Amino acid sequence: MDIRVTSPEIQDQMNKLFSSILLEQQKYMQVRKPDADKAHLVESALKEYTANRGKGFFYNYMSSGRGHGPFTEQIDGSIKYDLIGGIGPNILGHSHPLYIKAHLESACSDTVMCGNLQPYPEAAAITEMLMKNVSNSRLKHFWFTGSGSFANDLALKLIWQKKEPKYRLIACTKAFAGRSVATQDITHNEAYRQGMPQSVQVDHVPHFDQTDPENALEKTITALKEVVKANPNQHCALMMEIIQGEGGFIYGPKEYYEGVFNWAKENDLYIWIDEVQTFGRTRELFAFQNMGLDQYVDVVTVGKALQVCGALFTEELNPKPGLIAGTFNGSLTALNAGEKIIRYLTEGNFYGENGRIAELEHTFLSKLNHLSKNSCKGKINYSGGIGTMIAFEVGDASKDITIEFIKKLFENGIIAFMAGNQPTRVRLLLPLSLTDEHINEIFKIIEQTVLEVVK
Ligand SMILES: Cc1ncc(COP(=O)(O)O)c(C=O)c1O
Repeated sequence: MDIRVTSPEIQDQMNKLFSSILLEQQKYMQVRKPDADKAHLVESALKEYTANRGKGFFYNYMSSGRGHGPFTEQIDGSIKYDLIGGIGPNILGHSHPLYIKAHLESACSDTVMCGNLQPYPEAAAITEMLMKNVSNSRLKHFWFTGSGSFANDLALKLIWQKKEPKYRLIACTKAFAGRSVATQDITHNEAYRQGMPQSVQVDHVPHFDQTDPENALEKTITALKEVVKANPNQHCALMMEIIQGEGGFIYGPKEYYEGVFNWAKENDLYIWIDEVQTFGRTRELFAFQNMGLDQYVDVVTVGKALQVCGALFTEELNPKPGLIAGTFNGSLTALNAGEKIIRYLTEGNFYGENGRIAELEHTFLSKLNHLSKNSCKGKINYSGGIGTMIAFEVGDASKDITIEFIKKLFENGIIAFMAGNQPTRVRLLLPLSLTDEHINEIFKIIEQTVLEVVK
């Protein structure tokens, strides 16, 4: 264990503790209903929490902090498959040895948070790992932020400073960029900014049209031309999620992005890619690498699975002093875990056409396809996605039936979430700790739930 204190006694205790925690957490490895005497605990804990924060929760879910692999336990003793991982952060699942190690190593440190004025080797190491893994691109720097939304705010500031006074932005319909004052305008869904004054001028153009792939590029380019014509010489950048998460994992082929990005470059726009949700989850560490778009990207934002957030950017976009700062880079545990995650993913057998991520994608999509052609014919009418980001539609893909489905799925032992509107999709962000045995059980639960809900 790579701990700060030098005492062999502490080293020895830490090693023992590591093994004991691993063994203890392995007790949580199968779907289980709540314990009868604890069944009320989640509801009462959430009632108080809801009263204090002023808003309720989507699921009756309160983690006990115990779980293993894809399994998570609640304070009522119930255990479920976690196929959404807090909408992204838990890419390795629960109680992964690497997470436990990061916690224990950091437990021997002198503070909790690492920041800009007092850096620690953990921050330098994760930055170095990130830069090492984008060496085929023009990205040269990485700056930490406190959230994915703030990583996007930072990206926007870098671009604005360079392009002053061209402050207008182009983003995509169905985009989700976060909840900050700036990113709520980039996010396409108007319901997320009710009553807000507009702070960023954003023109939304269609992303890849899955229903009309042949004409998708032309549709996007036509829309791009229209918005530029309507506001000539005012745009600074094109902001895109290559795989739209909240949209229901919508993406196009490499040629589509090349066409769009070539047009953007010809029109003097920076290319800003939001990988807050996609980082780590395709056949490469970054989705832009998966699509072979290394040469195009000017700014890339990351978060979630990395455990810390921030923006990678080119030398050209390195800002003037004073523009960017912030107290926190992240906790020492998060920074340590993030660096370990990059190492684990890139040095393990996860990426490439024959990696575990491609295998998970293939297995999930072929099993969904099988259900849609057999027992769930007419009840699962779409399945798609890429890497560990899988989506499918149930029934008429309305929001109501999708919510009913995922709530029933939760009751039956799987935590998933939804994405998109018209159609609304069931969204899974798979943990890498899934085995084939888990997947077989997961599909039995999905099939049973579809048959229960979709008549
Ligand atoms: C694509 C994308 N960008 C940005 C964000 C915002 O990240 P955060 O919630 O950490 O602020 C999210 C969060 O879901 C996201 O999916």
